[in-house]
Parts: sequence; C-alpha cells; structure tokens
Amino acid sequence: MSHTLAIIKPDAVASGHAGKILAHLEDAGFTVRALRMTRLDQTQAGAFYEVHRDRPFYGELVEFMTSGPVVPMVLEAENAVPKLREVIGATDPAEAAEGTVRKLYAESKGRNAIHASDSDENAAQEISFFFSRHERLGVG
Ligand code: CMP
Repeated sequence: MSHTLAIIKPDAVASGHAGKILAHLEDAGFTVRALRMTRLDQTQAGAFYEVHRDRPFYGELVEFMTSGPVVPMVLEAENAVPKLREVIGATDPAEAAEGTVRKLYAESKGRNAIHASDSDENAAQEISFFFSRHERLGVG
C-alpha cells in the first residue's frame, strides 16, 4: 500500500461538494488515513506551491487557495499517486475524462476542485506539510 495527499480546494468546499468528493474517493477504493478542514494563509499556500513560483498563474493560485477552507487528506491505496491522478482527471476540467472528480465538480483550470500529489516523493513531502506524525496515524 502507498499514500498520497489530496486537497479538496476552496471552490469545492464552498459549493458544498466536499462530502460527495470524499465519497467518490472512498468508492474508488481509497482509505482515508488522515483528514481535516483548515484555511491556508499566504505564507503556507506560497510554500506549498513553491515549485510553481515562476509560473504566470502563481499569484492567482495562492490567492485562490487562501480564499476559503480546504480539506487536505491522506489517502491509501495500491499505487496511490497514479491511481488518484486518474480518478481526479486532467487539470483542466474541459479535458477531464467523464466520471472523474474534476469533470463532475471543477469549474476551470484554476478552480479545479481538488489537488493530488504528482509523485511518491512529493506525496511524502505534502503529507508532512499538512499532518504531524501523530495525526498521520502511523503513515509515513
Ligand atoms: P494542482 O494540482 O493543485 O497543482 C498546481 C495548480 O496550478 C493546478 O492544480 C491548477 O489548479 C493550477 N493551475 C495550473 N495551470 C493554471 C492556469 N493556467 N491558471 C490558473 N491555475 C492553474
């Protein structure tokens, strides 16, 4: 079993889709190993998306991710990282496959309902960004 980090983003929390997205992820075979609702400040969101600092959308991304509560969670499954990326669909909901989380709930490339780690290495880093060792209940 491996682990990945998902974040239900402010757009999906605000539109009341957090519960449906969580159920979608559980129905897809993930076990939730840690979860909470929080609100990121500018420093936290800026650090989380540090790799995108030079991208033109960085400011917009940080502003959006601090605009309301988010729901980060640790998910467990076999091949969790690629499996979650398949279940959530392409970054741009217009390109996301039918039945994926982003096809169902995302509004745009920026307001795209959910984040997922893109590698095992980043998953480990992102999990410890949000969850203490105690909260991870033995994961990682
Ligand atoms: P996420 O998986 O959270 O990781 C980086 C995020 O950058 C991505 O989801 C998108 O929400 C965001 N992003 C990527 N491209 C764009 C874009 N062109 N405009 C705004 N946001 C973007």
